[in-house]
Amino acid sequence: MIEGINGVSSYAADIDRANIIVHGLSLFMLFVVLGAMFIFAYKYSEKRARPEDTKNIKHYLPIEFAWTIIPTIFMMIMFYYGLEALKAQRTIPENAMIVKVEGKKWSWSFEYSNGKKTDILYLPVHTDVVLEMTAPIGDVTHNFYVPAFRNKEDVVPGKITKTWFNINRLGTYDIECAEYCGTRHAYMLSKIVAMSKNKFDKWFNSDSLEPTRKVKLDPKGLVVLKQNGCISCHSLEPIKLVGPSFKGIYNREVKVIDSNKNLVTMISDEAYLKDAILKPNKEIVDGYMANVMPSYENVISEDDINEMINYLKELK
Ligand code: CUA
Repeated sequence: MIEGINGVSSYAADIDRANIIVHGLSLFMLFVVLGAMFIFAYKYSEKRARPEDTKNIKHYLPIEFAWTIIPTIFMMIMFYYGLEALKAQRTIPENAMIVKVEGKKWSWSFEYSNGKKTDILYLPVHTDVVLEMTAPIGDVTHNFYVPAFRNKEDVVPGKITKTWFNINRLGTYDIECAEYCGTRHAYMLSKIVAMSKNKFDKWFNSDSLEPTRKVKLDPKGLVVLKQNGCISCHSLEPIKLVGPSFKGIYNREVKVIDSNKNLVTMISDEAYLKDAILKPNKEIVDGYMANVMPSYENVISEDDINEMINYLKELK
C-alpha cells in the first residue's frame, strides 16, 4: 500500500471523513441532477411529446421546498464535518515539542531546541510537535505539506506560521512543497523519520546528525552544504541542475559573465568560490541565470565557508 494512504497523524481521520462526506454528497447531487436532466430530455424530446401534451405548470410548492431544503441540509452537514476537521488541525496544543523550520529556494532545514540543525526531520511518535516555520526575507512563499499527515501550511518570508501533528505510526514520510516557488519547486522535498521516543531522545542528546548506527559521519563541509540546502541546486554528481555541479568545481577554468556583461575566463580558486557563495550575482557562470542564488553573507559563518571550500576541493 502507498505509505500514508491511511493517515498517520492524530487528526488525519477527521480530514479524511470530511473529504469523503463532501465528495459523497456532491456526487449524490450530481447524479440526481444529471439523472433528472437525462430522463426529462428523453421523455419530453420533440419526437416523443408534443407541446400540447404538457401542462404549463408555473409553480409546484412541494418540489421547490424539496430542492431548497435538501441541499441546504447537505451544505450544513458538509460545513459541520469540515469545521470539525479544521478545528482538530488548527488547534495548536500547548506544551508541545517545538521545531523551527526554514523553507527557502529550494530546500527545507530544521532546527531543534538544543540548536541541532538537520535537513531531514527526525521526530518521536505519539508526541505533540509544533513546527514554527518561516522563509528568509526576499525569498518566496513555500508550503509545508506532509500528505500522510493531511497537514498543509504556508511558509511565508519574514513571518512565522505554525502547524502541528502527533504521529501515530513509526515510518518515513514525504515532505513536499505545495506552493509553486520557481524552477526547482518539484524537487523541494525532504523526509520525516518517525522514531520511538527512546531512539529519538538518544539521538537528540548525541552529537550525531543522523540517528543511524553507522559510525561514519559526513565530513563537516558536506554537512554545511546539506544544512544550507546547497545540494538541492548544485549536484555532487556531474549533473547540471539550476546551478553548476560541485563535481570538480575547484581550480578549473570557468567562463563567466562579469558585472560589465563581458564574457571572461576565470580560475575557480578559493577566492573565486568564496565570492560565488557571498556575492553570487557578481559573476554568473555562462549558461546559468542571475538572481537565482541568494547571498550567504551573514548566513554561513567564516569557518563553515572554509569547511565547504575544503570539501569542494576534494570533490574531483
Ligand atoms: Cu518551495 Cu514550491
